[in-house]
Amino acid sequence: MRFFAILMLAVVSLHPVRGQEQTALPGRKGNYKEQHRPQFHFSPERAWMNDPNGLVYYAGEYHLFYQYYPDSTVWGPMHWGHAVSKNLVHWEHLPVALFPDSLGCIFSGSVVVDEQNTSGFAPPGHPEKPLVAIFTYHNLEWERAGHLDRESQGIAYSLDRGRTWSKYAGNPVLPNKGDVDFRDPKVFWHDQSKHWVMPLAVGQHLEIFISPDLKSWQKTSDFGEKEGAHGGVWECPDLFPLKTPDGKEKWVLIQNIGRGAVAGGSGTQYFIGSFDGKRFKNDNPPETVLWLDYGADNYAGVTWFNAPGKRRIFIGWMSNWDDYAQTVPTERWRSAFTVPRILRLGSTNEGLRLFQEPVTELKALRKSPRMIESQSIDGALLLPTSGVQQEFILEFDLNATRAKEFGLILRNRLGEQVVIGYDREQQVLFVDRTQSGKTAFSSKFPARHNAPLKTGKNLQLHILADASSVEIFAEKGRIAITELFFPNEDYTQYQLYSRNGPAQLQKATIYPLKSIW
Ligand code: FRU
Repeated sequence: MRFFAILMLAVVSLHPVRGQEQTALPGRKGNYKEQHRPQFHFSPERAWMNDPNGLVYYAGEYHLFYQYYPDSTVWGPMHWGHAVSKNLVHWEHLPVALFPDSLGCIFSGSVVVDEQNTSGFAPPGHPEKPLVAIFTYHNLEWERAGHLDRESQGIAYSLDRGRTWSKYAGNPVLPNKGDVDFRDPKVFWHDQSKHWVMPLAVGQHLEIFISPDLKSWQKTSDFGEKEGAHGGVWECPDLFPLKTPDGKEKWVLIQNIGRGAVAGGSGTQYFIGSFDGKRFKNDNPPETVLWLDYGADNYAGVTWFNAPGKRRIFIGWMSNWDDYAQTVPTERWRSAFTVPRILRLGSTNEGLRLFQEPVTELKALRKSPRMIESQSIDGALLLPTSGVQQEFILEFDLNATRAKEFGLILRNRLGEQVVIGYDREQQVLFVDRTQSGKTAFSSKFPARHNAPLKTGKNLQLHILADASSVEIFAEKGRIAITELFFPNEDYTQYQLYSRNGPAQLQKATIYPLKSIW
């Protein structure tokens, strides 16, 4: 259904009249002061963005490519937009890196540093390593003509730190044998086997291909047919090792799913298991479903290749493909990414789970903190801060808490609000955006989303609130919830609340945050 909708949009936008395209976009450039504009999250200056692509660290720069349609604020023939950062906080916009060509438009994919020049793209003595992009060609004309093999994998390379790109003359490097959904290669080097590995989403499962040179690919395995959630097509996989708390190596498979995710619509599941260079094996029973985020707005997230310090850094698209991505009420641009997050494996009563927390670099945005020490919240407590971007670190003492429900409310003068609450009876952490302001653009938007959370003596919440999003990390990142909102006036008031009795706040630390733009 979603792809049908996308197809319709693609058909509409396939033959754009140049003059008309511009009218779809008020203003040519963003100034990052528009209503709803994120102040510490990446968003494009103007026009439509979806998945993060080609995340790679090379020569002191984190590259961020992204699915981009420069001619409109809705999805259209995909390009790769491009930005770089030295610190994962401040981003410099660069020109579009990859444009559609006769083989198709450029869907999601990855970039690797070809350290040993296995591709041969670097001439002898060239000072820079080749950066090689591996992406999906999606041929919209073939799609319209009903060809099933409309998606194939292509490569492009850059010999100048990602500034200019050449498509490989032998594209496609991985043609399609008739799978309608055959996309989103996330390539990495497997050192033990000395070959490249390409996890690829195919329909509702994963296929793994390997290659010595990024040009010729051979299939080695399938995974997932009866494993995990299958409410929709699988998209944007990622496969990488992480250390367990006792120092063993496990492999995490991120597998985005187009619909039927935990908060409705699209979302991100993951698996934990082993990988031998050719095949992924799930450690959990096939029916176990693990969600990376319990909110409605974290999709198509993947991790950086080659990040320094062996950090596994994730970033996701803060929207919901299936439910409303193309109708959210922003005018000049559409969509932003989550903050970059560090992934790690941690032990829980249920076994190993993925934990995530914002990268520490973001601390550079903190202004002087406001603190509240131990205090009983009976009803409401207005916090001593105002302004749009805020970071909260809240600790509650549950032994001394009688309240059935308590938490933090973000709100404005108009009475619009987002409630972040802990419901002790249901044992869920939730975000309720039913009264959040503009919600009429989708019947799916005004909703409450829950994350199961059994707590002990304390509850810790780390919350990042920006102009149109909130990211919540509970219990040191074991639970994450990412949600959008669009108030008619910015939220600038923040209030702790309790219902049915007092809640015991141990400590609140609040940092107003600087804008990155
Ligand atoms: C995920 C996705 C990918 C695809 C891209 C197209 O959001 O559907 O599977 O490559 O977006 O823009």
